[in-house]
Amino acid sequence: MTALTARTGSPFAKLLSVASFVPSRVVDNAEMCTYIDSSDEWIQQRTGIAERRWVGEGENVETMALDAARTAVERAGIDGSELGAVIVSTVTYYHQTPSLAAKLAFQLGSTGAAFDISAACAGFCYGIGQAESLVRSGAAKYVLVIGVEELSRFTDIHDRGTAFLFADGAGAAVVGPSDVNGIGPVVWGSDGGQASAITQTVEWSEALEGGTTPYIAMDGRAVFKWASGFIADAARHVLDAAGLTPDQLDVFIPHQANNRITDAMLRSLKLPEHIVVARTIRQFGNNSAASVPMAMDQLLSTGEAKKGQTALLIGFGAGLVYAGQVVTLP
Ligand SMILES: CC(C)(COP(=O)(O)OP(=O)(O)OC[C@H]1O[C@@H](n2cnc3c(N)ncnc32)[C@H](O)[C@@H]1OP(=O)(O)O)[C@@H](O)C(=O)NCCC(=O)NCCS
Repeated sequence: MTALTARTGSPFAKLLSVASFVPSRVVDNAEMCTYIDSSDEWIQQRTGIAERRWVGEGENVETMALDAARTAVERAGIDGSELGAVIVSTVTYYHQTPSLAAKLAFQLGSTGAAFDISAACAGFCYGIGQAESLVRSGAAKYVLVIGVEELSRFTDIHDRGTAFLFADGAGAAVVGPSDVNGIGPVVWGSDGGQASAITQTVEWSEALEGGTTPYIAMDGRAVFKWASGFIADAARHVLDAAGLTPDQLDVFIPHQANNRITDAMLRSLKLPEHIVVARTIRQFGNNSAASVPMAMDQLLSTGEAKKGQTALLIGFGAGLVYAGQVVTLP
């Protein structure tokens, strides 16, 4: 066997920036109850959602992603041409191919690697896990990770089981080299045996033939059980993998699926009272791949969380899949 040259990158990686785009259309629970038989009280009590954001005039997956990406690159203090890789996580882009990542990379002035991933609500944490490896392996110096969704387009607004949950938005972060480690080991996995828990009402081929839309179909109870049990345990493994105990954590940013799931995780993790917990689901709804970076950006911009603090991230959703890591906030 001929020994080949191996490449190594920075010993460590960190988040250099985070940014988000919040869509303009506010859909409150009163409007939601014109589409489904429900109430503001029921929705708030079961999920914590008071209102959600949907795309407004001129906004879509591409415009939201580009806006968040441009801000993230600017905040990282680099030029778009320095991006060695662009990773987009989305399940709501309209093109199977080419990828949204390649289009965005071009618009940002990058000729680096570009690819989309499909990991639903775990997508941003999957992307950060990949970005950290790319930086440390030397495959890329700077990696842009974007989570973007236009779930309003693929949610049946008359479905009592899903309409009130899902929303739109984008978040982005730049990962780059560091002298001190700022991204803990990713803990991730899947359970394809539960694929039917969150899926589509019809396959694309059937939808095209029948002229219908493949809406999100969800077994809410199954997802709730999995997330508040298995995922709460996974969050503890994320903390262990980073070598931390709960009292060393400053901020908890779980995927904004449901406040009751967040509460179950808090009970299971036994996090100290002082920890800042992301609850952006209240005003943004569940934005899938965009929810973790949107929540992170919101906490930092309101001053609830601060640069340099230690945050536990965990995403989980359709697949079923999950991923999480501890990060130093940018
Ligand atoms: C979706 C979810 C809020 C539904 O809550 P639930 O308690 O499981 O609801 P159920 O379907 O068991 O119904 C319970 C009751 O609420 C009623 N109900 C269901 N949907 C309702 C709605 N939109 N508005 C008002 N009442 C509703 C049902 O009719 C039922 O009433 P009954 O007890 O009189 O028969 C909950 O299952 C959940 O949060 N699951 C996790 C979903 C999630 O986080 N997904 C994202 C993962 S990425």
